[in-house]
Amino acid sequence: MNELLVVTCHENERLHETLSYALEGVAFERVSSSVALPLLAGRRVLFAIGLSEHGLDAEVIALIAALRQSPNLMQGSTGAILLDGTGELYTKQTADMLALAANLAGCRFPGKPLVEATGSLDNWNIQSLRRGVSLLGAYRQAARELVQRLLEFSPKKKPRPKVLLLHASDRTTSNTLQIGMRISEKIEPYCDIHEISLINGAIFDCRGCSYKTCSHFARQNSCFYGGVITNDVYPAINECDALLLLCPNYNDSVSANILAFINRLTSVVVYNGLYDKQIFSVIVSGYSGSDIIAQQVIGALCLNKTFSLPPRFCLMQTANNPGEAMQAEGIEERIDAFAARMLESLYEKDDSTGI
Ligand SMILES: Cc1cc2nc3c(=O)[nH]c(=O)nc-3n(C[C@H](O)[C@H](O)[C@H](O)COP(=O)(O)O)c2cc1C
Repeated sequence: MNELLVVTCHENERLHETLSYALEGVAFERVSSSVALPLLAGRRVLFAIGLSEHGLDAEVIALIAALRQSPNLMQGSTGAILLDGTGELYTKQTADMLALAANLAGCRFPGKPLVEATGSLDNWNIQSLRRGVSLLGAYRQAARELVQRLLEFSPKKKPRPKVLLLHASDRTTSNTLQIGMRISEKIEPYCDIHEISLINGAIFDCRGCSYKTCSHFARQNSCFYGGVITNDVYPAINECDALLLLCPNYNDSVSANILAFINRLTSVVVYNGLYDKQIFSVIVSGYSGSDIIAQQVIGALCLNKTFSLPPRFCLMQTANNPGEAMQAEGIEERIDAFAARMLESLYEKDDSTGI
């Protein structure tokens, strides 16, 4: 069934009106989240969520819990999220949680699949100036564009996709890198893999230049700071079909070099989005918290920086001492399954060669 499925949850008046505007002329079926669960597989699904000031609304929690409990609930689906908050907080947190739960249940997301409104609509200040409309007008236009993006999106497969393997890990000790290299071996017969290590060069974090300065450098495919990011990473990002990002958990965050890389991507997306590229990730925590890292990667690279998110985009593993990850029970099977998912999402058999 190709008709858009709109799943409403805790719908407020502003969300109701924004939805009406966004869906004008679109064929859709609308259901409340409390009855939507059996309908979610194989559909284009717009989650339309109203959020109270304190954030943790029972209906939203029930939806996320149901997704977490059923690993195939959104098999074959493509999703997007429209989220309308009453207060200034918790919209992003809710979107990150919902996106990860849906993704692990099989949902694919196009790049930038979230349109959110805080209670004041102040998060639309810049867009309202750029678009020359009111805050509410900018929010509604973006919601309409989101619906179109969801309806039109389909991932690009290629006979020999280019995968950028990016990390900042020590080759002799890192659990994350050992898993990453094993995945690389599995997909290598079908993909061109370009590995970049950020560990040896000094990586400066984003300087936070003005939009004008950032755009000036972006026009030359550059950035205020040069170095490995502009010389090696920018061209490799522009070339690749997918990024495989290796993320050890450092204090419940991606490590500093990986975060600096993400921040410096701003220059790349000023003119060209990364909508046609997919993001995959390996996440290893010594003790716990890989879900927080997964949400950080989704929030930064898919919701913000416009990479599309393939179903079950990450392999998460707990391991601390060097070598522990590759000794974990079932790790080879999880690596095999992950590599197979990467190929399913990226690789198109070339009928002319029979490969
Ligand atoms: C600076 C630093 C901070 C860390 N913080 C955490 C943490 O907050 N939670 C956790 O589970 N593991 C933490 N770890 C452990 C790593 O996640 C663990 O060593 C894991 O194997 C991934 O790193 P690796 O790829 O270098 O092996 C930390 C390690 C370092 C070096």
